[in-house]
Amino acid sequence: MAAIRFGICGCGVISKLHADCLKKLEAEGLAKLVAAAEPDAARRAAFGDTQGVTMYASLADMLRSSEVDVVTVCSPSGLHGDQVIQIAAAGKHVLCEKPLDLHLAKADAAITACEKAGVTLGGVFQQRFAPGPQAARRAIDQGLLGKIVFVHAETPWYRTQSYYDSGDWRGTWALDGGVLANQSPHMIDRLLWLGGDLDEVLHAELKCGFERDIEAETVAAVTIRLKNGAIGTITGTTVAYDGLPQRVLICGTEGSCAFSGDELVSIKTQRPFEAAPAATAPAVPAGGAGDPLSIGGTGHLANIREFATALRDGRTPSVTGHDSRKVTRALDLIYRKAGVPSFQS
Ligand SMILES: NC(=O)c1ccc[n+]([C@@H]2O[C@H](COP(=O)([O-])OP(=O)(O)OC[C@H]3O[C@@H](n4cnc5c(N)ncnc54)[C@H](O)[C@@H]3O)[C@@H](O)[C@H]2O)c1
Repeated sequence: MAAIRFGICGCGVISKLHADCLKKLEAEGLAKLVAAAEPDAARRAAFGDTQGVTMYASLADMLRSSEVDVVTVCSPSGLHGDQVIQIAAAGKHVLCEKPLDLHLAKADAAITACEKAGVTLGGVFQQRFAPGPQAARRAIDQGLLGKIVFVHAETPWYRTQSYYDSGDWRGTWALDGGVLANQSPHMIDRLLWLGGDLDEVLHAELKCGFERDIEAETVAAVTIRLKNGAIGTITGTTVAYDGLPQRVLICGTEGSCAFSGDELVSIKTQRPFEAAPAATAPAVPAGGAGDPLSIGGTGHLANIREFATALRDGRTPSVTGHDSRKVTRALDLIYRKAGVPSFQS
């Protein structure tokens, strides 16, 4: 079977990781990067020179060509929903970076557009693929944690003002949000994926523009209730010098687990469980605490490979648009609860 032909939408920081992964998948004969769309002329030229693929000045131009089967969306977060809709209308499959959008209505419209067009929508939540979270998922599937009663996700990270100044979309309510929408989605996803679906946001306290000249939150503390009755907390900041590992706790009546980054540092269950914590450490740490460029590529490779394999085999990918929607729904509900004006419709 011919390699699945990928195009990238948005050639900034994360696109390079996508391109590296697609090179590896080309060597496996599974997928291949053939094109990219980037409105910024200098970035477009640089990406084209490095990657040697056809470059387009806009997503619309790339979609008019017949050379791509799939588009990975690597543009600013607030554009994702509309771009997924545009890509679906062109009959291409979509793999969308986190978050699917900042607004639930946009995420829903994107999912509906893909379903109507009969194209596959997958999400990038690459930290699901690390051994620790996979082991915890198995324990939960086996019922070894009992009734989940408490969950927690925290992101005590550090981002400088120059990080925010590196893109005019960063830290804006229209296109990015703050620590919750940009730096926390993987931990929110882990909390919901392992702990259960969100029922309600009980309280959300945000400090916006605190210590950094941005619109959105640099410190956040949120309390939640899940549909299974568990209560919990989601917290985060981008001003904790010099960045500490993200942490997640999933606590149940018969077992509990704790993550530091992607490492499952503790899992205790009343009934025996297969995985010793030492066996579940990731080969490459998740990174990103103090430096956004320091995330490893292992997770992305696994995520993109699994998506491409699902397309090749005609099955649903393991991270679906509906999975991504859960994170967007949490963000939307949190920002509504906190009274952020652009979320009050
Ligand atoms: N999965 C992860 O761990 C991870 C890590 C980093 C970033 N991301 C996500 O990737 C996305 C991009 O982040 P980044 O750090 O690469 O940002 P970036 O600013 O470095 O890159 C975004 C690129 O998109 C381009 N762009 C702007 N408008 C566009 C449009 N209309 N069409 C096409 N391209 C457009 C910009 O010119 C820029 O080159 C964000 O949604 C972010 O949340 C995910």
